[in-house]
Amino acid sequence: MVLRPSEISCATAQVAIVGSGNVGATLAQRLAEKNIADVVLLDVVEGRPQGVALDLMEARGVERHDRTITGTNDFADTANSNVVVITAGLPRRPGMSRDDLLLTNGKIVLDVTQKVMMQSPNAVLVVVTNPLDVMTYVGWKASGLPPHQVMGMAGVLDSARFQTFIAMELGVSINDINATVLGSHGDLMVPLPRYSTVNGIPIGKFLDEAAIARLVDRTRNGGAEVVELLKTGGAYYAPASAVCVMVESILYNQPRILPVAAYLQGQYELDDIFIGVPCRLGCQGVESILELDLTDQELAELHTSAKAVRQNLEHLRSLLGESGLSF
Ligand code: 2OP
Repeated sequence: MVLRPSEISCATAQVAIVGSGNVGATLAQRLAEKNIADVVLLDVVEGRPQGVALDLMEARGVERHDRTITGTNDFADTANSNVVVITAGLPRRPGMSRDDLLLTNGKIVLDVTQKVMMQSPNAVLVVVTNPLDVMTYVGWKASGLPPHQVMGMAGVLDSARFQTFIAMELGVSINDINATVLGSHGDLMVPLPRYSTVNGIPIGKFLDEAAIARLVDRTRNGGAEVVELLKTGGAYYAPASAVCVMVESILYNQPRILPVAAYLQGQYELDDIFIGVPCRLGCQGVESILELDLTDQELAELHTSAKAVRQNLEHLRSLLGESGLSF
């Protein structure tokens, strides 16, 4: 049973983050310094989570929050978390696609999710590891949770990028921009200009088709653009912000409408797949899935995206099978 907000006292809101790399560490910082939750940061690397946690705790002397951040290599220390976030896995390097991480990260997600969910069997699970849509499916299978209690972080990040590029192009405040992205977290994602607005006005009133296509393309390439610049790994500030808003919605039962990788059972004519769609979040996780009216082209693009996710899923199932693993 997931605790209702009336039963979650702010002081007991605890988030376990598996993986203390840049995304996990930045998420820990966001959750603590926004006074959203206490954090248990877990990693297999000795010292890394402990060092990050101690550094963040020492920042309290300036940031003045009373949230605790604990670093550990022991899954038992994550027990009784309300939300579990899986960031563990390898990030991309320049020239790599997210799909290149399939087997390595599939094994990691399968292993760590089984172990962490044993300590917090009622938690809501948020998967961040790439390739996101497949890893969310693997995390769901490893968790033993009902599918509504599992989601993947991607659409909030991709929509944030689309919104940012629109704001930059128009020279207007980000506060007036709303945009949404469906589909997989990859080259086949489906930004929706028709549902993207500047203070309620469709962006098509401000931008011609060529400009919109350019912003859509930059959004699709958003992660890779940062990878090519950093050279040592992927983005983490924007991904951590995206996870943070999802976790806050879950912990405090904020009925946010956000695009997340959710489990479809017939919606959008898709079944048995996790993929990015607009959802209403809350303390139960994905409380409902919104079915937008899509044009034939938009639906076709979503199905093309889903087909690639399903192919990757079956490819991973086959690769893991060769290692005697299954999900
Ligand atoms: C990104 O798009 C890391 O997949 C994440 O930056």
